[in-house]
Amino acid sequence: MLGRYFERSWSHGEGHRLYDTSGAAYLDFANGIAVTALGHHHPAVTAAIHAQVDRLIGPTGAMGFAEPVARLAGMVADTLPAPIDTVMFLNSGSEAIEAALKLARRVTGRPGIVAFRGGFHGRTFGAASVTTSNLNYRTGYEPLLPSVYFAPFPAVYPDFGGDGAAASRACLAILASLFETVIAPAQVAAIVIEPVQGEGGYYPAPPEFLVGLRALCDDHGILLIMDEVQSGYARTGKMWAFEHAGIVPDVVCIAKAIANGLPLSAIATRRDLQERWGRSAHGTTYGGNPVACAAGIAVLETIEAQDLIANAAARGEQLSAGLQRFQAEDGRIGDVRGPGLMVGVEFVKDTESGEPDGATADALVAQCADDGLLVLSCGRAHQVIRWIPPIDVTAAEIDEALAIFWGALGKV
Ligand SMILES: Cc1ncc(COP(=O)(O)O)c(C=O)c1O
Repeated sequence: MLGRYFERSWSHGEGHRLYDTSGAAYLDFANGIAVTALGHHHPAVTAAIHAQVDRLIGPTGAMGFAEPVARLAGMVADTLPAPIDTVMFLNSGSEAIEAALKLARRVTGRPGIVAFRGGFHGRTFGAASVTTSNLNYRTGYEPLLPSVYFAPFPAVYPDFGGDGAAASRACLAILASLFETVIAPAQVAAIVIEPVQGEGGYYPAPPEFLVGLRALCDDHGILLIMDEVQSGYARTGKMWAFEHAGIVPDVVCIAKAIANGLPLSAIATRRDLQERWGRSAHGTTYGGNPVACAAGIAVLETIEAQDLIANAAARGEQLSAGLQRFQAEDGRIGDVRGPGLMVGVEFVKDTESGEPDGATADALVAQCADDGLLVLSCGRAHQVIRWIPPIDVTAAEIDEALAIFWGALGKV
């Protein structure tokens, strides 16, 4: 049975508003969980979809090349740092993770995969095997993929008092001891990480940690897989969240915002990894559908033409500043964190212990919706309200959302 945030039926969307079937309008800062990052009925995306539907809907990539598919692959590769230059399209975030894990195992000839506690990578068997954000994603599905090992994620709140360097040192030390006592690094194919944990609670990995992981991977020939499914595509004020750490991963998993709502995902790597993986080592029937790719081209052109990376950074600062003002006045807010427009507001029973307060966050999600603002929760106890506004959000819309949120806070 599907879970749902809202018992509402949606009729249509226009810009940054979603409309329910009764005609009520909602400022949509949820975006179908970071998918419609340019909002609804975006003129460029809609026109690109219409034009491509009239021209060519199929066929599968196994038949050869289609213009929008090849073009988008080149455009996505151009957004990534060298030596990443090769893109394979798939359909969903989970599939991108599956592909990355398969590539890592076959290319390295090693079985081990290291993932992080609290991470979410999807719901297919491989992706669920590296997911620990909630027991519900794993319960009843054992045995999951073997040779998966978990290490702690350096969440700086509440345990490290905001000290990213200390959190990184502590977690890298535990990883080092995992390699000394549990699995030899020479047996590890890949380390997979979200640069900002999403479903797990909107925890950004401190840059020092990602730098440390990169060094560890280099020392031991391990592939570093960056799950940018939720954090990518300008969301954090950079095109890719890993750029905040100045590192280059081996494999990048991409989905959600890539086609503003049409099903499309990708893995990006350097060419030699794809070549070592081998022809037909992986494949897909629907991945890289020309219509979804045409939408993807419009998304990237819009990000570039409207300088939306800079917009996400600037509007993110405005949003975080507003939320920090609320934190100073409302003792239920324990933490406000996250880069750009990927901001988490954590609710706690008391700020000393940092004990999560999911009930308040749940009530707030419902109250905000009643008051015309869609935000979502995340975290193991749903204690974090996550803010995922469209990346082309305006300053006036951020102010409007903050005002609704503050009003709703007074009611729950
Ligand atoms: C970081 C991350 N990875 C992977 C996934 C799985 O993506 P999908 O639901 O498209 O399979 C998600 C979905 O929320 C995600 O947030």
